[in-house]
Amino acid sequence: MSGWRIPSVLWQAKLLLRERLTVGGIAVDATVGNGHDTLFLAENVGETGRVFGFDIQKEALESAEARLHDAGLLSRVTLFHEGHERLSEVLLPEVKGQIQAVTFNLGYLPGGDKQIVTRPDTTLLALQSAYDWLAPGGLIAAVLYSGHPGGKQEANEVLDWAKRLNQKHTQVLWYQFLNQQNDPPTLLAISK
Ligand SMILES: C[S@@+](CC[C@H](N)C(=O)[O-])C[C@H]1O[C@@H](n2cnc3c(N)ncnc32)[C@H](O)[C@@H]1O
Repeated sequence: MSGWRIPSVLWQAKLLLRERLTVGGIAVDATVGNGHDTLFLAENVGETGRVFGFDIQKEALESAEARLHDAGLLSRVTLFHEGHERLSEVLLPEVKGQIQAVTFNLGYLPGGDKQIVTRPDTTLLALQSAYDWLAPGGLIAAVLYSGHPGGKQEANEVLDWAKRLNQKHTQVLWYQFLNQQNDPPTLLAISK
């Protein structure tokens, strides 16, 4: 095989997100987990930007906080111990219409309790709020997993929701490797 590789799902998500983020911008990590995506967003909004992160697991938020602290970027981030479905109640109203990018990384926390997973009903509420709160030109990147119990159902419900977004003002992309085995993750990107 040559050295050329098509970007992985996680890398492609970063490429798309990076294009939309500017210094001073606002971003949301809807599933903070260990904070890898939160850190990426914080790096890309610069010193004057703001990242809001949500997770229902305290241990995840503590791990993310340590990562952000070590990188010297914690001051750019506000972490909420709240479900992402409460986005519109938790964020200040002035943030509405200003969010450049939102990440979702569905499923369970790597290295954590595999019983604690994102769920279709709350994920769909959060995606709709995230979409409603995006700035014009904003992007949602959602990494979907179907290998764990309930994952396929969740991914299908998310894709059904996304397919119904009006093509007049929204682009919806589904990025996946068709020949990878063992239910590889896929990327849903929504550009408003
Ligand atoms: C795949 S992990 C995220 C990994 C993360 N991107 C990272 O860099 O480590 C999914 C996370 O979603 C969280 N989660 C589950 N339900 C949630 C909800 N309703 N709102 C916010 N986070 C939720 C889980 O606790 C878990 O930490």
